[in-house]
Amino acid sequence: MARRKKLYEGKAKILYEGPEPGTLVQYFKDDATAYNAEKKDVIDGKGVLNNRLSEYFMNGLNGIGVPTHFIKRINMREQLIRSVEIIPLEVVVRNVAAGSMSERLGMAEGTALPRPIIEFYLKDDALGDPLVTEEHIIAFGWAGQQDLDDMVALALRVNDFLSGVMMAVGIKLVDFKIEIGRIWDGDFQRLIVADEISPDSCRLWDTESGQKLDKDVFRRDLGNLAAAYTEVARRLGVLPSNVTHAVKPHVIN
Ligand code: TMP
Repeated sequence: MARRKKLYEGKAKILYEGPEPGTLVQYFKDDATAYNAEKKDVIDGKGVLNNRLSEYFMNGLNGIGVPTHFIKRINMREQLIRSVEIIPLEVVVRNVAAGSMSERLGMAEGTALPRPIIEFYLKDDALGDPLVTEEHIIAFGWAGQQDLDDMVALALRVNDFLSGVMMAVGIKLVDFKIEIGRIWDGDFQRLIVADEISPDSCRLWDTESGQKLDKDVFRRDLGNLAAAYTEVARRLGVLPSNVTHAVKPHVIN
């Protein structure tokens, strides 16, 4: 049997050539990294959970007309996606102050923001993904003005959808990061949501207790990361049947 071609290996995922032109296979690893890969570990089951959760969110977005790269899940760790030209920016949407914004601006974590705030970070590991302004993005050609307008519109629609889905299961969507790619229809380009949407790329706090159910559990050594992600999956009803991690909330801490 011919070995499939690996096209790219990142910190948490691998991309393989897909079965048809314009498609890729996205494989979710169990590797967890933080602080630009200074902190590393392997979290048994994380890849399986993120594959399921990203499927759930991307399917939901596709269903309300927000275009994404997701085509279908193939197995426990892999999904078929559309191949896109990734725009080299991380698009962060914040509803509540936390993380780097709290540090940068001296705002207490948990402060509600007056409106969703969108930030752009340049995808460049060597530079530590620096915050950039729209002026930088246009001047240096990472995206055009129309792309920026479309990216903001996409990011806000994703925020509305994800906030609602999470709120319904007692989780506050504090912030999240998405990546956006271009696809071409003849001479016309469209922007679609790419990469992944999972607790690796969101901040999720239990509405009642404030308990963290996202990658900050790993970043800040707050307990069992797989148990936290399992809890998110359990609440959303997307728990794969053969995940064996304990799901009782008391094991998270
Ligand atoms: P930050 O507060 O560290 O800037 O992170 C904002 C959001 O973006 C948070 O939900 C985590 C997510 N994020 C990623 O998914 N990847 C990254 O490399 C970084 C820095 C943040």
